[in-house]
Amino acid sequence: MVKNNVRTSFPENFLWGGATAASQVEGGYDRGGRGLSTSDMVAYKPRTGKNDNMKFNVTGKELDKYLEHPEDYYFPKRKGSQQYDHLEEDIRLLGKMGLKVYRFSISWTRLFPTGEEDSPLIEGVKFYDKLFDLLDKYHIEAMVTITHYEYPIHLVQKINGFESRKMIDYYLKFAKFLFKRWGKRAKYWIPFNEMNMTLISPYTGAGVLEDRSKYKNPTQRAYQASHHQLVAAAKATKLFREIVLPVNPDAKIGLMIARIENYAGTVKPVDQYMALHDDEINLMYPEVLIRGKYPNYMWRFFEENNFELETEPEDFDVLEKNTLDFISFSYYMTYIVQEEKGKTHTSGNVIGTIMNPYLELSEWSWPIDPMGLRITLNKLWDKFQVPLFIAENGLGAKDEIASDGKIHDIYRIQYLDKHFQAIREAITDGVPVFGITVWGIIDLVSAGTSEMSKRYGVIYVDADDAGNGTYQRKTKDSYDWYKKVISTNGKSLGSGAAVAVPSVLDDL
Ligand code: BG6
Repeated sequence: MVKNNVRTSFPENFLWGGATAASQVEGGYDRGGRGLSTSDMVAYKPRTGKNDNMKFNVTGKELDKYLEHPEDYYFPKRKGSQQYDHLEEDIRLLGKMGLKVYRFSISWTRLFPTGEEDSPLIEGVKFYDKLFDLLDKYHIEAMVTITHYEYPIHLVQKINGFESRKMIDYYLKFAKFLFKRWGKRAKYWIPFNEMNMTLISPYTGAGVLEDRSKYKNPTQRAYQASHHQLVAAAKATKLFREIVLPVNPDAKIGLMIARIENYAGTVKPVDQYMALHDDEINLMYPEVLIRGKYPNYMWRFFEENNFELETEPEDFDVLEKNTLDFISFSYYMTYIVQEEKGKTHTSGNVIGTIMNPYLELSEWSWPIDPMGLRITLNKLWDKFQVPLFIAENGLGAKDEIASDGKIHDIYRIQYLDKHFQAIREAITDGVPVFGITVWGIIDLVSAGTSEMSKRYGVIYVDADDAGNGTYQRKTKDSYDWYKKVISTNGKSLGSGAAVAVPSVLDDL
């Protein structure tokens, strides 16, 4: 509906989607000759409290222990949700829901077990061929995250991941193969998941073992690895334009960050400045990859942190000439920053934050703030003026099977409904958002805690934190709700969102 030149509804071709990551959903870590990756080496450690959400970092010392005695630990991401054996069913369920786009990642080591091979493993290629065939069958657009928190362990041990510049070439070899093989079949491409994760956990974001680093300064270490990833993303974009565009001229490539939307804790100027500064750090990635260069405030930041970024003369040219097409980001919550410490803290996506008294918390203590999504969309558009895509949003919650055998996840419906309405508001504000992929559309292993019980899906997977269960799929009430949202292109939002609807699983 367009009136007074204001769009008040979702555009016709809005992409309603779902997202997963190979390292959290696929399993089959030892099938078809697949090599070990960084996420396979994250051992399960029970949480000690609601704010204890960050269990993804691994040190060199721990890695040695895990490699030597794997039998002493449980590694949930090796099992994922066993999509490796449920692929047809998973894509069929997404197709029957009417999903428009599926964001997934490719397991680097399923194709190149060490990262050094020149040709890929046949079984791995066949697995992804099948995935693309199924997406075609159900008319679902593919959005490929080239790599989502998993790097070949071999390259971690050999060169310490993206700490080394050499990693750029290994990454490009992998990306080149994907572009050649599947460039025709995927319209949307993302070089790295949540690029700013490298600043928080260099192991997770960049395959860097901090205790094996040649850099003593942790800030230098993180930004150096980030720089290599930025150059890798720009070089991949060059390859994308050379290889993919001639065969798929509508294809697009975009960067992805975990959006840290900050509120200042008080109206004190210093708190306002802190919020601005944190925002600048978060937006360094689109500054470099959309505008094509490091902003001045970053050079000042490097200087004040006592290091010089190691660069090659070609880097600046590469970054400037190969800017990306769109910005995608994950959005789960907002954060508070202020000078005064000692306030109550909550947990959160990627990092925790100070408690915001105006917001409710999820079961994992993440603040819930749909309005923050509208704010973030507006800010990103105001600043960068490129199309935006919400690559992740969703609610991690415990689900129970009720006495009628169904999962009445009303809380998830309410969460998504409010966030989708916030997107509609941003679209009405004039922000070109072209879609959203709901995170963990099929229940999967949590990135942060490796728990299976932290569920995001509209499709339930029967498995527990210890990997027990049948891994059978079952739709939740949110599945039927999302199906309706998609079929009405968002018109069903708001009214009756909280009404539980019957499961359609029997009709499939
Ligand atoms: C994002 C990651 O940061 O958050 C996903 O890209 C992750 O991989 C998601 O799963 C939710 O976080 P968690 O820790 O609840 O799995």
